[in-house]
Amino acid sequence: MIDLRSDTVTRPTEAMRAAMASAPVGDDVLGDDPTVRRLEERVAGLLGKEDAVYVPSGTMANQIALRVHTRPGDRVVMDADSHIRVHESGAPAALAGVTIAPVAGDLGVFTPDQLAEAAPGPSPDFPPGLFDPTTLVTMENTHNEAGGTIWPLESMQSIQATASRLGLGVHLDGARLWNAAAATGIDLATYAATADTVNVCFSKGLGAPIGSALAGPQEVIDRARWFKKMYGGGFRQAGIIAAGALHAVDHHRERLAEDHANARRFAEAVADIDTLSIDLAAVHTNLVYFDVANAQQFVDRLRAEGVDSLAVGPDRIRVVFHLDVSDDDTVEAIGALRKVAGG
Ligand SMILES: Cc1ncc(COP(=O)(O)O)c(C=O)c1O
Repeated sequence: MIDLRSDTVTRPTEAMRAAMASAPVGDDVLGDDPTVRRLEERVAGLLGKEDAVYVPSGTMANQIALRVHTRPGDRVVMDADSHIRVHESGAPAALAGVTIAPVAGDLGVFTPDQLAEAAPGPSPDFPPGLFDPTTLVTMENTHNEAGGTIWPLESMQSIQATASRLGLGVHLDGARLWNAAAATGIDLATYAATADTVNVCFSKGLGAPIGSALAGPQEVIDRARWFKKMYGGGFRQAGIIAAGALHAVDHHRERLAEDHANARRFAEAVADIDTLSIDLAAVHTNLVYFDVANAQQFVDRLRAEGVDSLAVGPDRIRVVFHLDVSDDDTVEAIGALRKVAGG
């Protein structure tokens, strides 16, 4: 089976497993797991931040970020299709107690004017205390629901400038920031400089089994460690999995370009088939979304041909290219696609 459902389905490579098996470990809750610490320092360095904290999931990294930047009742501005809003199980309301002001981005990207409009402050007609205070804006790069799309650096910088004028914190959900950096050649730290805190995931395109990191200023990450413990994220000999993440950071970033090339090849094959529709301009990295009359039926038929994909809506399908999908697999998947679509 060629599994294109997600880049989270990858299995650790032999070399990764060897690194994990021999990792020195301690007790992460007591702060003395040397491999976790190495990973945190490495990621903080790559992102140009003072410190980073290793957590079990991207969801936890994002939710801790919301908690450290806000107080219950605050308003947070983000694109309406953000992972934080749509796919994190209601956590912003349940854990941080915030409301989200969703804005309609273009491929996930919104403008400084949209941000300012969604974050009303006191004015001559509206005295302080009338609106819930907006304290945070979040960006997602690459943007999952929009198709693995990349926020242009200049757009991020202009959001940061407006956030600074409005006195808001900035969080970047960079679960797949590795892909954005690989596709554009822009340094991770340059992207990360547009935000106060950044989440990066090791368990997606990088192919590690578990974990994400939240990076930021020292005092923010010190506070984040408290919420990690509070949310049940204290994982004792976590060095075993941190070693897989370190291996992924060191060995799997270069090859992300191969996933992007395979995604593009598949997307172009979709575009050639009359019964399918796709916005090729939205295919920037390793995710491909396309439309078909009956998504679930199409997914079932693709599965019968040995290709697993995901029906993400009544007429929408997602396929994702990753470490466990070779060039040959991509050619085979395109063959299955053509057979099922009759293209
Ligand atoms: C953009 C984005 N942010 C956050 C997450 C959450 O990561 P996790 O599944 O590790 O909680 C995902 C997961 O796919 C994602 O795509």
